[in-house]
Amino acid sequence: MSPAEAAAGFAGRLASRPAGQPPSRTPAGVAELLASAEQFILQFYSEHQLRAPERRIRQVRHEIRASGTYRHTPDELAYGARVAWRNSSRCIGRLYWRSLRVRDRRDVIGADEIAAEGVKHLREAGNDGRIRPMITVFAPDAPWRPGPRILSSQLIRYAGYQTEGGAVTGDPANADVTALALDLGWPGGRPPGRFDVLPLLVQEAGGPVTMHQIPGDAVLEVAIEHPEFSWFAGLGLRWYAVPAISDMFLVVGGIRYPAVPFNGWYMCTEIGSRDLGDAGRYAQLPVIAAHMGLSLASDTNLWKDKAMTELNVAVLHSFSRAGITITDHHTESVRFLQHLAREERHGRACPADWSWIVPPAASSATPVFHRLYQDFDQTPNFYRHPAPAWQQPASDDLHEYVD
Ligand code: ARG
Repeated sequence: MSPAEAAAGFAGRLASRPAGQPPSRTPAGVAELLASAEQFILQFYSEHQLRAPERRIRQVRHEIRASGTYRHTPDELAYGARVAWRNSSRCIGRLYWRSLRVRDRRDVIGADEIAAEGVKHLREAGNDGRIRPMITVFAPDAPWRPGPRILSSQLIRYAGYQTEGGAVTGDPANADVTALALDLGWPGGRPPGRFDVLPLLVQEAGGPVTMHQIPGDAVLEVAIEHPEFSWFAGLGLRWYAVPAISDMFLVVGGIRYPAVPFNGWYMCTEIGSRDLGDAGRYAQLPVIAAHMGLSLASDTNLWKDKAMTELNVAVLHSFSRAGITITDHHTESVRFLQHLAREERHGRACPADWSWIVPPAASSATPVFHRLYQDFDQTPNFYRHPAPAWQQPASDDLHEYVD
């Protein structure tokens, strides 16, 4: 099956029914939605210390019975998105959950408009380097038509071109989506480069996958250099400033929003230890260690540890010098424990996944390492979409653990 066929099959599965037909929720589906909606409205009222939620609950019930769905008020939507962040047990950066900016674009369902809004999101979130945590919320699923979906895993991703010999030029994490883009007619970089920004892949309700080029001036990027090693800049490494996840859906009060790109700012280890460091990604540790004059003959001189540390130093240094918000894993670990304490003071249990919270460098030198957490699922929350059909199940399994 070619990627295009796979994408068409995926589109087919999304296209549930033509627009204009009456809602099709089963009675059990309606009862479930009523219960989730009521629970969410009660939470909204109680956390805002508002009294008498009954009126709003009656209204929502009415709307659900008549149409099979209901529309959040802008305040409910903003609160739902912020609490979804607060409930994201894999995220170490949750201290600032209240500051999330919410762009309400629920009336947007067309692919071109979605791409244009994605570009605006990148500009507003990038904010010339003073990164703002931000989410753009597109149309929710309705009983009569699914909402739109963004197939790209982030708004900005670098291409990974499969070469004849099996090696990948660029980011191997994006090899499948790069193959799909090429198949759909994307020309690719000429010549293919290691850091070519992929077009955004969008799918409006039940429609085909479409590609949308992101204008270069909407992509804030940083060339990576080292404060002491002058050869480092010559490695030609770079990374983008705004990590905007776009392959997750948001669930608030029983309503599912399938396209909700959201971003925070980077922690240096995401780029240094993982994106540029992982053996299955840009695999730069041997390159850096060799330049440092370390022997790669055995593991016991800890060349990987040394190279990784210097790569993280370089990422922090380069972002700071460029005036782009970035944080380190020591600072963020302390902030996360502050967040936990604050949540406790508010009488809320805070879910956390140790294996994701603990940083991938200097783990035991951060305080988050030395304790355990409760992890549990509660909505509002973000969930990852099942992988599109062009992705192999094996790589999807892996995705769950490594992103
Ligand atoms: N780890 C992902 C990456 O390296 C980004 C995930 C979101 N990160 C964030 N700081 N909000 O691209």
